[in-house]
Amino acid sequence: MAGVTLCLINQKGGCGKSSTCFHLAGAFAGLGYSVLAVDADPQGSLSQGFFGSDEIENLPPEETLAAIFDESTFFIDRKQLIRETDFENISVLPTNQHLAAFNAPTPESSGMIQYSLRDALEEVGDYDITLIDCPPNLYQCSWNAMIAADFVVIPVPPEDFGTQGLRAVHQCIDNARRLNPNLRRLGHLITRYDKRLLVHRSYEARLRTLYEEMALNTVMPEVSAFKVALACRQPVEVYAPKSKAALSMRRLVDELMTRIASRKNQKTMA
Ligand SMILES: Nc1ncnc2c1ncn2[C@@H]1O[C@H](COP(=O)(O)OP(=O)(O)OP(=O)(O)O)[C@@H](O)[C@H]1O
Ligand SMILES: [Mg+2]
Repeated sequence: MAGVTLCLINQKGGCGKSSTCFHLAGAFAGLGYSVLAVDADPQGSLSQGFFGSDEIENLPPEETLAAIFDESTFFIDRKQLIRETDFENISVLPTNQHLAAFNAPTPESSGMIQYSLRDALEEVGDYDITLIDCPPNLYQCSWNAMIAADFVVIPVPPEDFGTQGLRAVHQCIDNARRLNPNLRRLGHLITRYDKRLLVHRSYEARLRTLYEEMALNTVMPEVSAFKVALACRQPVEVYAPKSKAALSMRRLVDELMTRIASRKNQKTMA
């Protein structure tokens, strides 16, 4: 399979971007795909999920994603930034607080820096799946991710009734498509869903009415296994492969792969 790059974007905080990225990496890897998990969020949650906070917070900038944005470290071989994990088929390009200095709030028209991540990923070689976790804003890091990616997934919490936030995300994707016409939307992923709550069921119904097939059929349930597995630094596919959480992630992989295949056949659809 030719490599595919997915980014997870939403300016809403705590909606499950990093959790989805972490466990999705495990689900893809479990199916035998080689996965590169790129942490493009200065909070470093994805990196900490794999390696723990002590190790990640103590990394010097030249051993993190910050190196690709800094003129003084442009010479560094991008391959050296990648760290192997304890899990077969999962590698990580880690990040910590040093990235914050480069997450400028107005990334558009910022010159070649917009292409830093795209160029770095071209250098690091072939992975079947590259997943990019983004911060809860649409600044330079998310912008770089959209310029580098083939597909965008938008995790949404089922309580976010203001449509303004999602509209801004879609506007930003449209803007990024001017620089990266290959970028396509895979869909909205409802996360942290509790079907017992009327408010969640109403939100789901409303999202499906408003966005129709743009809303993914798979929904990520709010289940403690995701949290517990992350705290144990294991994707749920490894920690509890028979759990509802692991099953949901595998369903998501199936649906994403089906959508990726169909989007590739419809070159013009965005
Ligand atoms: N489906 C889920 N079930 C239970 N807990 C979840 C689920 N998804 C995420 N969480 C938990 O919710 C919290 C926020 O999730 P996460 O860090 O993935 O959000 P985020 O969108 O990456 O946040 P930020 O915007 O700060 O980067 C974490 O503690 C995570 O473990
Ligand atoms: Mg996060």
